[in-house]
Parts: sequence; C-alpha cells; structure tokens
Amino acid sequence: MSVDLNQKIYVAGHRGMVGSAIVHNLRTKGYSNIITRTHAELDLTNQATVAAFFRLEKPSQVYLAAAKVGGIYANSTFPAEFIYDNLMVQNNIIHQAFTGGVKKLLFLGSSCIYPKLAAQPISEDALLTGKLEPTNEPYAIAKIAGIKMCESYNRQYGRSHGVDYRSVMPTNLYGPGDSYHPENSHVIPALIRRFHEAKANNAPEVAIWGTGTPRREFLYVDDMAAASIFVMELDKATYDGQTAPMQSHINVGFGSDITIAELAKAVCSAVGYQGDISFDASKPDGSPRKWMDSSKLNQLGWKPSITLEEGLALAYANFLIRL
Ligand SMILES: NC(=O)c1ccc[n+]([C@@H]2O[C@H](COP(=O)([O-])OP(=O)(O)OC[C@H]3O[C@@H](n4cnc5c(N)ncnc54)[C@H](OP(=O)(O)O)[C@@H]3O)[C@@H](O)[C@H]2O)c1
Repeated sequence: MSVDLNQKIYVAGHRGMVGSAIVHNLRTKGYSNIITRTHAELDLTNQATVAAFFRLEKPSQVYLAAAKVGGIYANSTFPAEFIYDNLMVQNNIIHQAFTGGVKKLLFLGSSCIYPKLAAQPISEDALLTGKLEPTNEPYAIAKIAGIKMCESYNRQYGRSHGVDYRSVMPTNLYGPGDSYHPENSHVIPALIRRFHEAKANNAPEVAIWGTGTPRREFLYVDDMAAASIFVMELDKATYDGQTAPMQSHINVGFGSDITIAELAKAVCSAVGYQGDISFDASKPDGSPRKWMDSSKLNQLGWKPSITLEEGLALAYANFLIRL
C-alpha cells in the first residue's frame, strides 16, 4: 500500500520516551509534515484548547503517545491524577480528532490493561476477563477506556465517516528518553542508575529487591516506534483481519522474557560494573511472569530488530549524555 509522506501527522507526547522515538522514526521514513505541541503550549486535559488545536491544524493522522505515566510509587501515590489526566487527555484527543475529521489514529495503551492473573503469554483476548493489578488499576481503567473509545468510534462512525482508530499495547519499554528518577523509574533505568553509581563509587556489591526469579519482557523504544508506524501503515482489511470490532487492540512485545537476575547481569555488563550482585528475598517480587503474546503482530509481518544487549548499550550511552 502506498503511504502519503506529506500528510499532516500530529504526534501527541512528542517529548516523551515513546513520542520522541515515533517522531524520529517517522522522519527517518520520510514523513515530512509532523506537527507537535509541548505540554506548556497545549494542555491536553483542556477540552476547549484541544478542540481549537484540531480546528486550526486539521491533521490527517494522530499518534496518541501523551499520557501520565509512572511506576508503582507514582501510581499508588497519585491515583486520582492517573485516572483523571489519562481519561481527559485521551477523551479530548480522540473526540476532537473525530470532530476535526481525523480518519486514522493510534492509541498507545499498556500491558497493565490485562488481568493480574492472566494466562501466559497474555493474548489480546485476555482483556476484561479478570481483576487488574490493584496498584495501577486507575491507570489501567483509563487505558481500557481508551481502547473502548477507539472501538466505539469505529463502530459508530467507521462506515459513515471512514474512521479507523487503532490501539497497540506495548510491553515494558526502555531506551533514550527514559525516566531515571530515583523513586519513580521502571526496572531497567533503575538498574542502570544503581550499577552506574556502584561503579563510580567502587561499591563491592549491589543488592536487588526480590529473589531475581520473576520473568519480564522488555522492548527497546525504537522498536516500539517502528511497530506503531507499521500498525498505522497496515491497510484496513489487513488490520481488520487480525482484530475484531470489539477487540481491536494489538500486543507489541519482544517475543521472549528473561528473569530479573538475567536482566541484572545484562545491565551490569552494559554498564561495566565489576562487583557482585545479591538478591534481597525479603523484598516483594511482584507477579511471577508478565509475558505478552505478540503472535498477531508477528503474523502481520513485524518483529523487533534490537536485541536486549544492543538496547542496553544504547540506553546506557543516553544515560551518560544526560548526567
Ligand atoms: N514507558 C513504558 O515502559 C511504557 C510501557 C507501555 C506503554 N507505554 C505507553 O506509551 C505512552 C508513552 O509513554 P512514555 O513512556 O513515552 O511516557 P513519557 O515519557 O512520560 O511521555 C509522555 C508525554 O506525554 C506528555 N503529557 C502528559 N500529560 C500531558 C498533558 N496533560 N498535556 C500535554 N502533554 C502531556 C508529557 O509531557 P510532560 O512531561 O511535559 O508532562 C510527556 O511528554 C503512554 O501511553 C504509556 O502508557 C509506556
């Protein structure tokens, strides 16, 4: 299918880890008319200003990578902000995109939409089959609402207005632009920071929370950006062939997972830390496994291209630049 490289594309959240990678990947592919707004220029929780933005700019495609994102600490401390901000941002963008005539939109969700005890690997049809992980339930509920909003607009306005709004559910992401906040970062940036500091201070040992046995899946952010554009560029019949009107989201994973102990060793070698790693089994492990079934996306023809080793080296190089 031929794509129009001159069409106007709005990337919401372009300063974030995923949004910036999407902008970079779009430009690399030759897309030449990308529009962005910073949070200060356009607060996406504000309905009137989002409406005015769509009236003014009239984009033809939207990548919705703006969201309030955080780890367990932030989700547990600010649950009201996580549900309110995310619902407002996505409601405003999806509805104003529709009102402004946007035919194609990609909504970015998260693997936390799935039940805490979902069978592994987690396939798309596990959605709404069980209880969510309580710590990030408000965030997950907003993300589920985003998927259902896209589906509802497709079902009501697909034929009459040509609306084609899609959703992708990424696994854990890492890479340039990640947050290295001491209390509020995800596992890979937290380990990069800790091993880097231990190396700088010649610390003999780094103790890691938990037993090291839980398994997790990680995808480099450039691969996520490439998958997002791949899904947007699929023709409608192909996308519809792998989805259903009320189950329209597609998982984006790496394809395999590793234990936290294996991850710690890999980060240790990317950082060049020579000391020992120990595990503090008195600290909680979280769920034993979170592994996405990405077979739909693989059948559509997409696979990740960046190994964990390559991705960690790139992430660490970016961490050093930002010190
Ligand atoms: N990171 C992961 O591991 C991961 C995993 C699965 C899914 N995802 C999904 O991927 C998407 C992007 O995540 P990310 O990691 O790139 O997050 P991020 O780095 O925090 O970026 C989010 C961006 O959204 C912007 N934003 C938030 N609220 C806004 C508002 N009210 N108005 C305007 N802009 C606003 C932020 O701007 P400010 O910083 O200026 O507020 C930021 O640039 C999210 O939907 C997330 O759920 C991420």
